[in-house]
Amino acid sequence: MGEAWSAVDEARQWRRLMEMGEIGAIAGGDGAKGVNRACLTPLDRKARRLLISWAEPLGLKPSADRLGNLFLRQEGSDPDAAPVLSGSHMDTQPNGGRFDGIYGVIAALEAVQALREAGAAPRRPIEIVAWTNEEGGRFAPGCMGSMAYAGYRPPDAWDAAEDPDGVRFGDALREHLAAEKDLPRRPLGVVEGRAPHAYVEAHIEQGPRLEAEGKDIGVVSGIQGSRWFVVELTGETAHAGTAPLSLRRDAVQDMVRAVAALNELMRDPSDVLRFTVGRIEVSPNTSNSVADRVRFTIDFRHPSAEVLTERGDAIERTVRGAVRDCGVSVTERFNAAPVEFSPVVTGAVERAAAAQGLSALRMPSGAFHDAQFMVPLCPTGMVFVPCRKGVSHNPAEYSDPAQLAKGTRVLAQVLAELAA
Ligand code: GLV
Ligand code: MN
Ligand code: MN
Ligand code: MN
Repeated sequence: MGEAWSAVDEARQWRRLMEMGEIGAIAGGDGAKGVNRACLTPLDRKARRLLISWAEPLGLKPSADRLGNLFLRQEGSDPDAAPVLSGSHMDTQPNGGRFDGIYGVIAALEAVQALREAGAAPRRPIEIVAWTNEEGGRFAPGCMGSMAYAGYRPPDAWDAAEDPDGVRFGDALREHLAAEKDLPRRPLGVVEGRAPHAYVEAHIEQGPRLEAEGKDIGVVSGIQGSRWFVVELTGETAHAGTAPLSLRRDAVQDMVRAVAALNELMRDPSDVLRFTVGRIEVSPNTSNSVADRVRFTIDFRHPSAEVLTERGDAIERTVRGAVRDCGVSVTERFNAAPVEFSPVVTGAVERAAAAQGLSALRMPSGAFHDAQFMVPLCPTGMVFVPCRKGVSHNPAEYSDPAQLAKGTRVLAQVLAELAA
C-alpha cells in the first residue's frame, strides 16, 4: 500500500463536481457553464441530497444543526475524541461558478473516501461540513452558518434579513429545516456542543497568484478583514421633464457624490485595500422620474484591523459630508476581523505539499471564508488550488481536474495527520 493520500481519485472527484454543477447550471459568456444555487432553496436541498447519497454508502452519518449546517460524520477509533472538521459551502453567487465552495465539500468527501480505501483508521472522527449561506448572495451577510456555529453572532441574528424577493431568512430557514426533517438534528457548534479538534478548508484561490507563479498549492496564512455596510439615501421623486434641477432632491446625484467621496477616503497607493459598491437599488427606477431613494452596499476589506476601524468608522461621516439634498442612513451588517491561521495547520499543509513533491506558496486570502470564524475555536487553516486567470464569482471560473486532485491529496494527508 502506498501513502493513504494516493488513493485520491481525480476522475471520481471531477465527475462529482460536474454532476453538482448541473444543479442550478447557468450559461455564461463564451460558452462558459456556471451555477446559480442560492442557499435554502430547492436546488440547494437537491445538491445536499446528492452529497448525502455519495456519503451514506461509505458509512458516513448525516446530520444538521438548527442553522441548517450539514455534517457527514465518519467515526474514529475513539468516538469520544473531538472531530477534525473539513468542508466549505454549497451555495453560490447568482452568477457563480462550479468550484467556489463546492470544491471544498467534495474534496473533503474524496479525502475521507481515499483514506478509507487506503485502510487508514484515524483515531478521531472526521466530519465533513457544508455551511449554510457562505456567499451572502441571497441573504446578506455571508457566513451565517459558521458565525452561528462559532457563537460569533446569536443563531437568530439574521431572522429578519430579507432576500431580493422579500423572503425573510428566518422563514426560509424554517421551511428548509422542515423539508429536511428526516435528517437527525445535532447541537449547534460551540453554542450547544463542543469545539472541533481542528478545521481545514480546501478552496480555489479565486485570485491569480498561484497560476501566475506556477505553484500547485496555496498555504493560506490568514484572511483579511471585511466590513459590509448598507447606505440609504432618501430624497424626493419628481417629473424629469418639469422639475428644475435647483429644486430637486435627487438620490442618484447624491449617491454619485457619496461614492466619489468614499473613493477618496479609500484611496490606497499600495493597492492593498479593497472597496466595492456592488449593489445599487434605485426607486422608483424609471428613466423619466427623479430618484427618491437609493440603497447601495459597501464591501470594504483590508488585512489591518486598524485600517478597517479607522476608515470603516469614517464611512458614515464621509457620506454625510458629501450628500447635498438627501437624508442618510448607514447600517453595518457584517464585520469579520482579520485572522491568522494556526501553525498547526499551515505547517501540516506545508509538510504534505513537500512530501508529495508539490510546489507551494504561503499567501493570505483576499476572499472571506467560513474558516475565518473557526479560528477562535480550534487550529484552523486552508488549502488553496490555482484557478484559471484568477476568475471567480463568474460562470467562467475554472480549475482543472489535476490541480483539484493535488489540493485534495494535500487535504487528505493533513486530515490523516490531524485525526491520527
Ligand atoms: C466570499 O464569497 C467573499 O466575498 O469573499
Ligand atoms: Mn467560497
Ligand atoms: Mn464565493
Ligand atoms: Mn466565499
